[in-house]
Amino acid sequence: MQGNSALNSVLNKSLLVQTLEAAPVSRPPVWLMRQAGRYMGEYRELKARHGFLKMCLEPELAVEVTMQPLRAFDLDAAIIFSDILIPAKALGFEIDFNPGPVVHNKLRGAADIAALGSAIRPEAVTPVLKAISLLKSELAKLSGPPKALLGFAGAPWTMACYLIDQGVQKHFQGTQIFARTQAAAFQDLLSILSDITADYLLAQLEHGADAVQLFDSWAGNLSLEDYNALALPWVQKIVEKVKRGGGKVILYVNGSSHLLPAMCASGADCLSLDWRTDLEVAGRLFKGCIQGNLDPCKLFGSTEDVLSSTREMFEKARSLKGRYIVNLGHGILQQTPEENVAALVQAVKNIEESQ
Ligand code: CP3
Repeated sequence: MQGNSALNSVLNKSLLVQTLEAAPVSRPPVWLMRQAGRYMGEYRELKARHGFLKMCLEPELAVEVTMQPLRAFDLDAAIIFSDILIPAKALGFEIDFNPGPVVHNKLRGAADIAALGSAIRPEAVTPVLKAISLLKSELAKLSGPPKALLGFAGAPWTMACYLIDQGVQKHFQGTQIFARTQAAAFQDLLSILSDITADYLLAQLEHGADAVQLFDSWAGNLSLEDYNALALPWVQKIVEKVKRGGGKVILYVNGSSHLLPAMCASGADCLSLDWRTDLEVAGRLFKGCIQGNLDPCKLFGSTEDVLSSTREMFEKARSLKGRYIVNLGHGILQQTPEENVAALVQAVKNIEESQ
């Protein structure tokens, strides 16, 4: 351990927070997008008993699911178990999961969007905030170095995709068309989503999240020009508000290599990248922290394959000189062998021992 790490351990800061604060660290922290989920036997058992929505909305269940991968793999961060569509309930949307989100309300145009803004029900996210508070004390009970607790939300473009297309659609063409044919109403929707998202992330930080990740999963469908017009300005607004409130923000966009220069202007402390972007190139363009970017499919080979692709990723990440968080380039896939997740986490721990 080097530099002011002694002070950081007195302050009980997690490795992830230290990395986001650009403090010197002995190895990169590791966590995985969708680390709680169907690839784990324990998760499938709990879901068979309760169902996905109940697991998101009953704080004790959300805490249990969040903790499952931490107990199994000694990850450095927990991410609150929820879904990006849960806060849409605060705007009066009725949502189910099958397994992707299904949105029952149809947004036809300006009148429907104007009605959303006038009936916000913040209490819809109370269970998530309660789960975050409970997790804070649950994580404190674990032995070993402190673990970070991450909050999250969907970014306005990605939320609009699900809300307008009423669920998962290839390329979200309904949203693409709506954005062009009803441009003013669409901007109103993005504005409402931006306001509730910033408030929601700030509330998560107040309840104990150490940092937050903003998922703009489907903004990679946009050209650079459209990203600059339809997604980035609202992300910038959210990041600015959260940072003014003292929070650290990680921004994730899937399929984002063409958007990287624009994402650098988001204000985020950390950019979470998929496997199509070279970590060295990203590190030259962006001065903050970089997270990623193992292809989730690489977790399907032999354990030896997992170790060698992880080593290749570390070689690329060397140039980041500590500005690095290990993660996948997108969420972990359902059929992933649990032992390969263990191998990935162990490979990260081995870096510390070899230094
Ligand atoms: O990372 C974590 O462990 C926290 C949990 C989490 C979930 N959803 C649980 C979930 C997080 C961070 C999310 C975010 C989310 N939800 C995103 C952004 C991340 C990304 O993948 O790009 C998006 C786009 C959604 C919307 C969503 N929810 C989809 C597309 C699906 C279907 C996914 C699939 O794998 O089929 C969901 C459902 C969902 N959200 C599941 C989980 C564990 C699967 C539910 C099940 O068990 O059947």
